Amino acid sequence: MVKSSHWGAVEPLLLAVGARDEELLAAIAGVGIEQASAVAIGEVLARYGADGPWDPVQVHLRLHHDGRFTDHTLRIDRREMVATAGGPGDASVTVTYELRELLAQLFGPGADARPAPPKVEFTWPQTSIPELAQRMHPVVQGLDALLAACSPAETDLGRLAVRFGSDKWGGVHWYTRHYERHMRALRDAPVRVLEIGVGGYSDNGAGGASLRMWQQYFRRGLVLGLDLFRKPEVLGPRIRTLQGDQNDPGQLNALAKEHGPFDIVIDDGSHVNEHVRTSFDTLFPYVREGGLYVIEDVQTSYWPGYGGTPDAAAAGDGTTLGLMTSLVDLMHHREYADDGSGPRSYAADHTVGVHHYHNLVFVEKGRNNEEPTPAWIPRSPFPTA
Ligand SMILES: C[S@@+](CC[C@H](N)C(=O)[O-])C[C@H]1O[C@@H](n2cnc3c(N)ncnc32)[C@H](O)[C@@H]1O
Repeated sequence: MVKSSHWGAVEPLLLAVGARDEELLAAIAGVGIEQASAVAIGEVLARYGADGPWDPVQVHLRLHHDGRFTDHTLRIDRREMVATAGGPGDASVTVTYELRELLAQLFGPGADARPAPPKVEFTWPQTSIPELAQRMHPVVQGLDALLAACSPAETDLGRLAVRFGSDKWGGVHWYTRHYERHMRALRDAPVRVLEIGVGGYSDNGAGGASLRMWQQYFRRGLVLGLDLFRKPEVLGPRIRTLQGDQNDPGQLNALAKEHGPFDIVIDDGSHVNEHVRTSFDTLFPYVREGGLYVIEDVQTSYWPGYGGTPDAAAAGDGTTLGLMTSLVDLMHHREYADDGSGPRSYAADHTVGVHHYHNLVFVEKGRNNEEPTPAWIPRSPFPTA
């Protein structure tokens, strides 16, 4: 269980949003209206799609809860949305939400369509009608951008990869359609995602593109990034990073004990075959049943510079692809009298699917306890002549 101290007020609200209304009300009372408003505002800012007006405008956002309210002024332009406490200031429009409705809209499961608008009040300037139209157009654009950011998030992973700058779609890789196929079922769940490889390598200020993509895709997800190099600890309202080596089982065990179990682990780190195997052996036990372990760039199995070999699939479990191929074999271990005592017996008992795509593998975690084919079924084909 990720402790709330790592995630502030966000975790209790995420968990309550999928439950009954009373639980969300209790969670807001638990964290306090100011903290709950801060979670909502942080999420809205993170979701802003940089599609607002060219000229900056100010929008006043009021969040109501239980007879109280918090006020926020949002300064919106084409590049960013910035929030300050208080309002309405010079804002030409006030948007009022019930706090619990906004939280449910942001994080709530199954909310796909853009919802009905909240209460919107304009302050019309005293001027001529032609000038009025000119002055109000950017205000309406700013309002539209805010309402879009308050709506259920964009979930087309390819577009999100491009928006945040991850190479998981376009140019080098075309991974996002495969991710969508396997992750769609978990999209609305309060998942915990661990990705090895924050990005940006030794540049401490760079990286986080795919973590931001996951944050947006999993609207109730908590996203953890691991990198060999130190990165900012907080990269978004639901993103935290840790420094560590994916080839060090001690470090991986410690982080998984503290932050796991995970619903999804993605290995987009060094892609060195030995490192990939260390990470898989150590972290697969910390993936929940029903979850996924994903390995990117398995083509390094063929590259000697990464510890690979041109005959990768035949290389036992010495390469990533060899390891994945051996998993397919282990998944069937009851069919060939394996006594389950080998080094990969945990994987044998917990692998229920292995899906290969170009350079990308998904391992499905579950309880692999299906009985072998009954003994009375002949082990040689029925005679046909
Ligand atoms: C390809 S980038 C990750 C890109 C990111 N996942 C994305 O899609 O935006 C690989 C990252 O793995 C990190 N890395 C390399 N070796 C590592 C290791 N042994 N342990 C953890 N991270 C490592 C690098 O520092 C680099 O930032």
